[in-house]
Amino acid sequence: MRILSVVGARPQFVKLAPIDRAARAAGVDHVIVHTGQHYDPLLSDVFFDELGISAPDVHLGVGSGSHGVQTGSMLGQLDAVISEHAPDWVLVYGDTNSTIAAALSAVKMHVRVAHLEAGLRSFNRRMPEEHNRVLTDHAADLLLAPTQVAMDHLAAEGLAERAVLVGDVMTDVLLATRDELVGTSPLLDELDLAPGGFQVATIHRADNTDDPERLREIVTALGSLEYPTVLLAHPRLVARAAEAGIDLAAGTVIPHAPLAYRDLIAAVLASRHVVTDSGGLQKEAFLLRVPTTTVRTETEWVETVDLGWNVLTPDVADIAGAVSRPRPDDTDAAPYGDGRAAERVVETLRSHA
Ligand code: UD1
Repeated sequence: MRILSVVGARPQFVKLAPIDRAARAAGVDHVIVHTGQHYDPLLSDVFFDELGISAPDVHLGVGSGSHGVQTGSMLGQLDAVISEHAPDWVLVYGDTNSTIAAALSAVKMHVRVAHLEAGLRSFNRRMPEEHNRVLTDHAADLLLAPTQVAMDHLAAEGLAERAVLVGDVMTDVLLATRDELVGTSPLLDELDLAPGGFQVATIHRADNTDDPERLREIVTALGSLEYPTVLLAHPRLVARAAEAGIDLAAGTVIPHAPLAYRDLIAAVLASRHVVTDSGGLQKEAFLLRVPTTTVRTETEWVETVDLGWNVLTPDVADIAGAVSRPRPDDTDAAPYGDGRAAERVVETLRSHA
């Protein structure tokens, strides 16, 4: 069996790592196509190096652009790549422009498509990721869902027959990385921080970065928190802040370059709280049992909210109160699976081949 994985953005490299490992362990031929959506070494190369992912077989080098230009550039190149490698499955990940491009290319070429992380919904049609995941689910032949809630969404859209609950592959890599950590976060020494004495923050979504007034409010709110906040700044945040003349080093904020995966996990574990608009980080913080405040109107990972570990604060004025709330009750709930989802993915692809 040959699987052709298409990835392009940072969270997809994290999801690719356990799939690549499981594919190799199962003796499956695994072709990796990197679209080049993310090209900064800190958003791309470090993940391949650190997580031991096989080097991409094909690199499309599309770079940044408007949604249409970026997606179109991928589509224009993917037909030939899929045709050349003739896989049994094209595997697409998550909800980025790389996901929808690969799903569309494969389905048009009558090559079967499997969607990893199928069925997640924010029900917010302003999000580019929501268009990408809904359209990808309806195009794909096999829907690999991370949670029961995702399975329920697929059923509600008439897609139950194509859906399989496999668990969350990000949990696989998170638990393995946590267990291999040696010592504490290098950030403590580097920034002179006390364990449990700082927040980790990431803000990169268009809804938070692209309106200068909202971005300024968010940065000001972070800067007025009692404990320092290490703001791991995605290039998009840096670019939008510079354009709007916003100094990210406001008040108690300590801006910092994005971290490699292991360093991120160590930083979150050492922190008292996470403030984010990332999907993956909300869930990672929950798995590490670090309370989280999410600066969005909704989340796809509703279990983190239901279990009390994540609070949504679309209103910037609510961030400070949410960050200082008491730690929630401990839980041994495991809504994201047992850390062996990737093996199940490869097995499911094989049994459906
Ligand atoms: C993309 C995904 C988002 C995911 C995020 C993870 C889509 C629609 N969005 O958002 O779901 O959560 O990745 O980070 O696919 N840039 C650089 N260097 C890079 C990449 C981007 O400087 O290596 C800058 C460029 O100014 C670019 C901007 O970031 O225009 C946005 O990048 P893009 O890939 O379009 O979307 P993300 O915001 O990264």
